[in-house]
This record gives sequence, C-alpha cells and structure tokens, in this order.
Amino acid sequence: MKLDMRAFLRDDLRLRVDFSASDQNRGLAPPRVQKPARETQTVLPLPRDPAQTFTGRMDLVQALGERHSQRKWRDEPLRLEEIGFLLWAVQGVRKIVGPGQAFRTVPSAGCRHSFETYVLANACPDLQPGVYRYLPLDHGLVLERAAGPDFFALQHEAVLQQAFVPKAPLVFVWTTVPYRMEWRYLETAYRVIAMDAGHVCQNLYLAVQAVGCGTCAVGAFHQTALDSFLGVDGEEEFALYLAPVGKV
Ligand SMILES: Cc1cc2nc3c(=O)[nH]c(=O)nc-3n(C[C@H](O)[C@H](O)[C@H](O)COP(=O)(O)O)c2cc1C
Repeated sequence: MKLDMRAFLRDDLRLRVDFSASDQNRGLAPPRVQKPARETQTVLPLPRDPAQTFTGRMDLVQALGERHSQRKWRDEPLRLEEIGFLLWAVQGVRKIVGPGQAFRTVPSAGCRHSFETYVLANACPDLQPGVYRYLPLDHGLVLERAAGPDFFALQHEAVLQQAFVPKAPLVFVWTTVPYRMEWRYLETAYRVIAMDAGHVCQNLYLAVQAVGCGTCAVGAFHQTALDSFLGVDGEEEFALYLAPVGKV
C-alpha cells in the first residue's frame, strides 16, 4: 500500500500549497457554472417547480431510515416530471449569486460545483434513448448523443458488466470538471471534489424514494470506456460516479 496516497485525504495538505498562485488570486475570471449547450443543441425544458410538485410525497425521517441500495427495477416508466425532480434534487439551482457562482440543492466547497450531470435514457417514454446532459441554470436537458445499435453493449462494458446499470430505465452519471475547483483550491481541489460527490448521490438516494424509485451508487467503472461513452475528453472533464434509477 502506498501510504503517501493518504495525504490526499488530509487537510494539512493545505499548509503546503501556495494559494497566492491560484488562478483566482491571480485575477483570472471564474470558470463557467455549467458547460454551455452547443449551438446545434436544443434545450428540452423540464417541468417547472419540481419542489412544489413533489412536496409531501415522502417523510424525510422515513426516507433516511429506509434508504438502501437497489439493483432490481420494476417494468414501470419514469415520467419527465419525475426525471426533472430528480435532476433538481441532485444539482438544481437555488440562487444565482454572480458570474461563476450559483447555490444549488447540494453544498459544494467554496460553491465551486465541479460536476456535470448526464443521464442515460435507456427506457423512458418521454426521452428518445441516448445520452443527455442537465443544464442546471436552464433546468433543461440537451441530447448529447442519440443511442445507436451498440448503446447497451458499450454501456455494459463501461460499467464493468454490472448488468443492473444498463437494465435501469435511467442512469445518472456525474463527471467532474476539475478546473472549476482548481481555480481556487489548486492541489487541494481533489479532496473536496470527492467530498462533494457524496452529497450529490445521497440527495439522489433520498429523492428517489419520493417517486417510488430506487438507486445504487456505483464507483467502479472503466474510466476511458465511460468517458468515451459520454463523449468527454477524459482530462478536462471525466466520469466520477454513477447511479442507475428505476421504479422499485
Ligand atoms: C462510493 C461508493 C461506491 C459504490 N460502488 C458500487 C459499485 O460499483 N457497485 C455496486 O453494486 N454497489 C456499489 N456501491 C453500493 C454499496 O455496495 C452499498 O452502498 C453498500 O453495500 C451498503 O448498502 P446500502 O447502500 O443498501 O446501505 C457503492 C457505494 C458507494 C458509497
């Protein structure tokens, strides 16, 4: 075991970093809050006011007590309203504070929010099968890539043959854009990116219960296969975590 890897988890790493050299302290503009949609992409708006629509569906204390990982799905579709609610729960914007900063439904170190959220629509009647990306500022989805004939086989490979993933009607995949965190935190960015990911997935675990669904955190996958499946470069943006969702 390489004990020096533990340094990554320790906050005294901060004492060895010269923060005056950060891009923030050198006066560079903050990175964008979300990756913009391409000009050729049309934003599919998600139903408005997800918080109001789903308020009162599930008692929070009950949701905390009953949370567990699910890997079997009932053959029942998720509606766009439910998908929009789940996306809002994991990354929805509460308040735009200024350029490069927006408060969301999850906390993030320094409000840097390094994640992009993708959904793989495997079997959702309101969505053509394919890879979509959530735009938190718009509360909408863009289609990144329509599913081709090898969509399920490639997805199965990318998640190391964990068959419950491509069998789910919808799969959340979070990538990180590390520069959003490095801009302020330099080498200490990675520790807080990992911390941030936990909040996002836990919100999904709790929120799915309000819509009769289940999920399972998945940290094991083939990095380059999943990055190429999503269409991200694997350097400036790469997959970090995923979670299939289905009715249970
Ligand atoms: C960071 C992380 C990574 C995980 N990766 C996987 C995975 O790759 N495959 C899987 O089947 N479950 C995975 N799990 C789910 C755990 O196996 C599960 O949370 C654990 O067994 C406890 O069960 P519970 O969630 O029902 O309490 C992961 C969970 C976490 C938090």
